[in-house]
Amino acid sequence: MIGGALRSVCSKAPRVVLAMKPQVVFVLGGPGAGKGTQCSKIIQHYSYTHLSAGDLLREERSRKESEFGQLIDSYIKEGKIVPVEITINLLRKAMEETMKTDEKKYRFLIDGFPRNEDNLQGWAKVMDGKADVKFVLFFDCSNKVCIDRCLERGKSSGRTDDNKESLQKRIQTYLQSTRPIVDQYEKLGKVRTIDASRSVDEVFADVKQLFDKEG
Ligand code: ADP
Ligand code: C5P
Ligand code: MG
Repeated sequence: MIGGALRSVCSKAPRVVLAMKPQVVFVLGGPGAGKGTQCSKIIQHYSYTHLSAGDLLREERSRKESEFGQLIDSYIKEGKIVPVEITINLLRKAMEETMKTDEKKYRFLIDGFPRNEDNLQGWAKVMDGKADVKFVLFFDCSNKVCIDRCLERGKSSGRTDDNKESLQKRIQTYLQSTRPIVDQYEKLGKVRTIDASRSVDEVFADVKQLFDKEG
């Protein structure tokens, strides 16, 4: 069972303490669609914890003792998706730690995951039954807008993949591997699509409407 988040159930029977099941929103969209930007705004208004798979991988890459540093580094530069065994462990640990520190923190925005079939299967293997996926928040945006935003971000981000060469590969990975995952969830009626090509505030106005209703 995940973490130490506890829920008290009062009844005449002896006090029973149950773990709260994590409630998850997957956040997907092309590179630079604005996932991170919108997640930062969501957590200011709603009680969610933002976990970015990309951020967790970059953190793991920079951890001196990590046995995966080099692998992660090369996958990121090549715009490829890191094997899920690594990513799911980082996500699981981050969720557990969050829930351990505060029993009320059981709602998660999982940003940039699941990005391919391997990610999806890894989630099913480790998390099925242990967390509920409420819906997929999908930021829809043209490839050109995505690329332009990442190149602009690249001027100050220091990211090794915000350059033209990596971006071509990231867009290919997105189209070939991530879009089919969105399509799968779409068939289940689980995708909430937001037009992400507009300004940050315009996009967030739609996000807010959605979270007021379903968050
Ligand atoms: P993602 O997490 O999807 O890769 P980010 O949230 O990091 O995207 O945004 C990518 C870049 O685009 C950042 O520099 C960010 O400031 C900028 N950005 C995000 N949303 C918008 C928007 N709606 N309009 C213009 N620029 C944006
Ligand atoms: O989401 P973000 O743009 O931060 O992801 C950067 C990179 O991290 C991806 O292009 C990919 O190489 C890696 N990543 C991954 N698996 C994920 C999320 C990110 O391999 N689920
Ligand atoms: Mg991001």
